[in-house]
Amino acid sequence: MTALAGQPVSLDRPQPGVRLRVVQMADAEELAALYEANREYLHPWEPERDDAYFTVEGQLDNLHDLVEAYATEEMWPGVILVDGEMAGRITLNNVLRGPLQSCFVGYWVASAHAGRGVATEAVRQALDVAFGALRLHRVEAFTRVDNIPSQRVLERNGFTAVGTARRHIHLEGRWHDERLFERLAPWDDGIALTPPA
Ligand SMILES: CC(C)(COP(=O)(O)OP(=O)(O)OC[C@H]1O[C@@H](n2cnc3c(N)ncnc32)[C@H](O)[C@@H]1OP(=O)(O)O)[C@@H](O)C(=O)NCCC(=O)NCCS
Repeated sequence: MTALAGQPVSLDRPQPGVRLRVVQMADAEELAALYEANREYLHPWEPERDDAYFTVEGQLDNLHDLVEAYATEEMWPGVILVDGEMAGRITLNNVLRGPLQSCFVGYWVASAHAGRGVATEAVRQALDVAFGALRLHRVEAFTRVDNIPSQRVLERNGFTAVGTARRHIHLEGRWHDERLFERLAPWDDGIALTPPA
């Protein structure tokens, strides 16, 4: 039991009301507002963004690229909904096929929804997409070494830490080390390249 945001929550049971879906161009207005509202909160963890990124036009440009990358199966760009309300983003990035069958997961949850198990549940559902619909074998994740809440989200979803990548991500004007995490598909038997039919 963790008391965050003033109310006891149990992260052991799935958080009802959390849903994922693929982004759509019609999300531009809600996403621009959500990014703007969380601009400072996300700043330590997100790439440098110019002001345009926090506008509807900026989000339309971004969504155009995401929808295109989804169409070419390079990524699965999703939004996190809590009781139908947009609460964050989650993406299966860099989908690699051939002998790798892998991707890496990235996510954020708006501060208004933080500490209630939303990210833990969203990552759980994203793993279902990765190992199910996308038939991938491996999901990786990177967190800044000081991002304990995000590491907890991954540990809760069965990720194991592999090691530390030195100066791996450039944020807040400098390079930061990141912890690398991995999660293999539940159907992994050390042999099969893809899941049983
Ligand atoms: C990290 C983040 C995704 C966690 O989302 P969340 O929905 O609050 O996470 P959950 O409620 O599922 O909690 C996961 C764990 O983090 C802990 N946690 C959540 N918010 C916390 C906070 N503000 N301070 C300390 N611990 C916190 C929870 O207690 C839980 O830990 P536990 O398993 O020991 O109980 C969210 O804070 C966020 O988006 N941060 C900014 C962007 C970011 O860091 N993205 C990930 C980059 S790798």
